[in-house]
Amino acid sequence: MKKILVTGGAGYIGTHTCVELLNRGYEIVVLDNFSNSKESALENVKKITGKDFKFYNVDMIDKKALDTIFDENDIEAVIDFAAYKAVGESVEKPVEYYTNNVSTVLNLLDRMKAHNVKKIVFSSSATVYGDPKVVPITEESPTGGTTNPYGTSKYMVEQILKDLYKSDNTWDIAILRYFNPIGAHESGLIGEAPNSIPANLMPYIVKVASGKLEKLSVFGNDYNTKDGTGVRDYIHVVDLAVGHIKAIEKLNKEGKGLFIYNLGTGKGYSVLDIVNTFEKVNNIKVNYTIAPRRKGDIATCFADPEKARKEIGFEAKKTLEDMCRDSWNFEKNIN
Ligand code: UD1
Repeated sequence: MKKILVTGGAGYIGTHTCVELLNRGYEIVVLDNFSNSKESALENVKKITGKDFKFYNVDMIDKKALDTIFDENDIEAVIDFAAYKAVGESVEKPVEYYTNNVSTVLNLLDRMKAHNVKKIVFSSSATVYGDPKVVPITEESPTGGTTNPYGTSKYMVEQILKDLYKSDNTWDIAILRYFNPIGAHESGLIGEAPNSIPANLMPYIVKVASGKLEKLSVFGNDYNTKDGTGVRDYIHVVDLAVGHIKAIEKLNKEGKGLFIYNLGTGKGYSVLDIVNTFEKVNNIKVNYTIAPRRKGDIATCFADPEKARKEIGFEAKKTLEDMCRDSWNFEKNIN
């Protein structure tokens, strides 16, 4: 049976997607270099699914190692998650970010082409829309105007994939623009486990709730939103993972195309909505203080999820309560 190569498969979104793929009978091969993940996450994917898969500890900068993977396995498609994703760090380390997020994709595409594997699902981000003039954001909304190397790296790879498709339309490409994934698998075995102090909201909240961090800084309460705090489209990571299955199905069914989809819920929640819902469903206090705005943040960002619903039948099913409960369940479980 032909296999799907999942790069960055030990990471947060990668592990959840591996579970959904295995549960649906897909065979997978996983690549990761554990730059922001641990081997135990893959063990837990096996535990949840009762299925096994081949794993390669490889950095995608290494073209020879990529060749070995394609030589040793009958790969029909790649889902590419492998990337750095800390916005602040990307400003400090642009060379590392462009190398890891752009050069490695070029290596991957080059080796895919050499091995005649021309189907790819790419992890992009709503960050490519910059500061949106209008919400909800559709796939036709203007892109660019990214404010940090992380965002620019996603924008660049999108452009590379579009140019690639223009040059050779036998490629099948799905670009998925994620909004804000939170939550964890209901088993509590996999979830978001950053190797350093979290920069994103939910991973920070769980550390405050568990007493590992003192309090949350709410970055700004003077935005033009219902309560002054930033509004985002939070999507449960399991829903997001299912979005990748839908994308693969689309590429398998129709083939021959480049498709771009927003993966979000279409609902916007504020920072205080998240804190309040987290406290309520988990019956635990989250200490916070209002702090100045974070540089580069925008007021409001949420998706128009219609295109993904119509074209690939993608619909986020889980609620904000599910997201808050599952994030906390994972945090309790790993400690
Ligand atoms: C950011 C990136 C996005 C990236 C995502 C996941 C931008 C514009 N977006 O999204 O590209 O894919 O991270 O890595 O850079 N907040 C607090 N206190 C905190 C942390 C966050 O108040 O300690 C607030 C933020 O100001 C924001 C909301 O919570 O309003 C969500 O922040 P975060 O989880 O970092 O995600 P984004 O900034 O939306």
